[in-house]
Parts: sequence; structure tokens; C-alpha cells
Amino acid sequence: MNPSADTGSPHPALHDVTAANRVSWNAIHHARPGRPAAFFAAGGSTLSAEEIAAAGDVTGRRVLQLACSCGDEALSWATLGASVTGIDISGVAIGLARAKSVEAGIPVDFRRADMFNLPADLTDLDLIYLSWGAICWVPDLTTWATLIADRLHPDGSVLIADHHPLWEVLAVTGPETLTLTADYFSRTTPRPTIHNAKLPAGARDAPNPPTFTAYIWPPSDIITALLSAGLYLTHFTESPVPDIYAGLTSPTHLPASYLIRATKNVSRGTTPRITK
Ligand SMILES: C[S@@+](CC[C@H](N)C(=O)[O-])C[C@H]1O[C@@H](n2cnc3c(N)ncnc32)[C@H](O)[C@@H]1O
Repeated sequence: MNPSADTGSPHPALHDVTAANRVSWNAIHHARPGRPAAFFAAGGSTLSAEEIAAAGDVTGRRVLQLACSCGDEALSWATLGASVTGIDISGVAIGLARAKSVEAGIPVDFRRADMFNLPADLTDLDLIYLSWGAICWVPDLTTWATLIADRLHPDGSVLIADHHPLWEVLAVTGPETLTLTADYFSRTTPRPTIHNAKLPAGARDAPNPPTFTAYIWPPSDIITALLSAGLYLTHFTESPVPDIYAGLTSPTHLPASYLIRATKNVSRGTTPRITK
């Protein structure tokens, strides 16, 4: 297997995983086109207030979104005045994103690329952003964090907003019933079967959904990888998302999402804020 073929990943195992996932993503992206261009043209945003606050003022900043899918969050950063690039392995997703950008009249540089093999010009970035189902495609967190840290401007930050891995392993399977569907600490071992509720939108409830290889990363592992890559933690919150545990009387008693920000320059950071 030529590790540089197609996705260009530097590591054969990463290449195999990414190439297979790309085929599956291309198969479902038309079924999950995201918000229409008119939503963004009217000033709409799919970013949460917490994400925007954690990023700080992005006006004129170079923002890169990894695994940008059909472009909704990248377009949202652009409406805030950032100069945005979005990369994704799926050509279908990038096609949808580019069309949306043109129709909305909001320029974003969308490219098909693997986050493990970023185009050489994507350096000196002020913000590298990943969200909602992005970090689970990373098979090797340590390698990934080093690559990302290397692409940041000396004052740059990485911002990750994603599903909490507790949600990744727990599925509501009946009224007031949670079922453990995977190992929270599986780490580099891909979860063997993705429970239907955890499949990407577009594949859920399909009679023969495509196969995805995804990984479960405890936030502590992500933070450790970022710290090991020389970054400083400036923000870490875990939050409930009521809809995500629909079927429970108290869905807000469980974490469903987290937000991590780490920066390259400790003097630019704020006091770490750790909440439970
Ligand atoms: C659930 S989406 C996350 C993006 C966005 N937050 C969303 O909800 O649409 C996952 C995306 O990750 C992309 N992806 C998976 N592995 C990737 C990799 N190694 N490099 C870049 N993109 C990747 C897939 O093609 C897919 O579009």
C-alpha cells in the first residue's frame, strides 16, 4: 500500500482508515447537506455562543476548520470576519460547501484534504477549529496534536467543540434506559460496531449503512496530547445537551459535549477554567 496515495497520509495505517472513511462519507454527504446558503446570506450562524466567546475576536484572523463537512461552521466563522479555510477528505462535502459559499456570497477557501496531510501553505494559523464529530476520525492523537501545533501562529489556538465521549458510549435504548455500547477507554482500538444512534446523520436508520472507523477519545487524552505538543490549556468545559439524551427524565444530568481551547503562547492564554 502506498501511504502517500490518494489521501497522502504519512502513515500507512492512517491512510487505510482515512481512505475507507472517505468512501463512506462520500456515500452519505448528499443526505446531510446542512443549512441552506440563504441561512448564511441572511447572517445566520451555526456556532454556539460558547464557541464564539472561547475563540475571541476572529476579525481578520486566519481560521482553519479540519473536517469541515458541508461548510456550515466555516461559513459561520467567515460571517464573523475571519479569513477561513475548510478542509475535508470528502469531495462530495467540499463540493456542497463550495456551492454554498458561492450562493451565499461568503468567500471561504474549501479544499479536499486529509487533516493528517495538510497543504503546505496552511501555516501561521490563528485558529484551528474542529467540531461535532471531527476528533473521532483521528486514529493517533499524539501525531495529530503535533501536526496541528506545528501549523499554528505563535499566538494561535486550537478550539475543539465535540460530542462528549460519554455520549459516544451510552445510548438511550428505552424510557429511562441507558445501554453501554462501547468502551470509553478503547482509545486506539476503533469501536467495533457503531450503534445506530451514533452513526453520522445521513447513515442513521439506513438499511445498509456504510462502515465507518471511529475512535473514542476521553477529553483527558485530548488535553494530554495538546499539552505534549507544547500547547497550553486555556479552556475546558463539559456541558449537557438535553436533546442528545432524549428519553431520559433528567438528560441534563450527563455531559453531552465539551469545549477545549489550547494556545501556543501561554501569555496569551487566560487562567484555565475547569468545570464539571
Ligand atoms: C460529522 S462531520 C464533522 C463536521 C461538522 N461539524 C458537521 O457536523 O457536519 C465529519 C467529517 O469529517 C470528515 N473527515 C473524516 N476523516 C477526516 C480526515 N482524516 N481529514 C479530514 N476530514 C475528515 C468527513 O469527511 C466528514 O465530512
